[in-house]
Amino acid sequence: MATPHISAQPGDFAPAVLMPGDPRRAERIAGQLMPDARKVSDVRGIVGYTGTHEGRPLSVMASGMGQPSLSIYATELFSQFGVERIIRVGTAGGLSPKIKVGDVIVATGAHTDSSMNQLRIPGVNFCAVADFRLAAAAYEASLPEQARVGGTVHLGTVMSRDHFYFTPEGQTEALARHGVLGVEMEAAALYGVAAEYDKQALAVLTVSDHLLDHSGDMSAAERETRFTDSLRLAVAAAHS
Ligand code: HPA
Repeated sequence: MATPHISAQPGDFAPAVLMPGDPRRAERIAGQLMPDARKVSDVRGIVGYTGTHEGRPLSVMASGMGQPSLSIYATELFSQFGVERIIRVGTAGGLSPKIKVGDVIVATGAHTDSSMNQLRIPGVNFCAVADFRLAAAAYEASLPEQARVGGTVHLGTVMSRDHFYFTPEGQTEALARHGVLGVEMEAAALYGVAAEYDKQALAVLTVSDHLLDHSGDMSAAERETRFTDSLRLAVAAAHS
């Protein structure tokens, strides 16, 4: 039975779904990871693929940009398609001075200025946290690489913003002062939806630019290469 935004049938999705924002990236990831990938959904250009990676079932589905878009797909996947874990793979803007362009952030929690989670439980500032087991699996997978290249994978919180082009004055600096590692636009909602359905979620983010220092911003080509590093950690979490 298809849902309003997913044209697949029950059983078409694997229990673990990798979720980039960009549909073209979803297609590329599916091609890269799964020799037997087949397209299982394509509504509004938001594609989903399922196949096997190293002999284990895996799906990749795009989320579109922003918390409302991601919430629609995550909700339908968790509630109608038997999906048990969603690992967002995307980019983030670096915030903390200890973050460099090209680093990877395993987002253990997500602050937000969105009302999406606030609406869940009236009067409560919902605490949007990643599944600890998934975060631990991703971090563990990063350890050999960390030993080799030194500290390029960070565990910590991110800020899931609704605006891309508007920032209240002083917010960036205040977030950095509070140890927030990066800025993106989806993780808080993903963690909220996962909590609602008692499922697992994680965001593994490649730092594509830095909000306090634009000198080292990545080109589109570099973004793609560095993205492979975070993908490896996301797959480790998916298969954990
Ligand atoms: N803001 C929101 N999302 C992002 C950014 C940013 O600066 N950089 C990469 N993804």
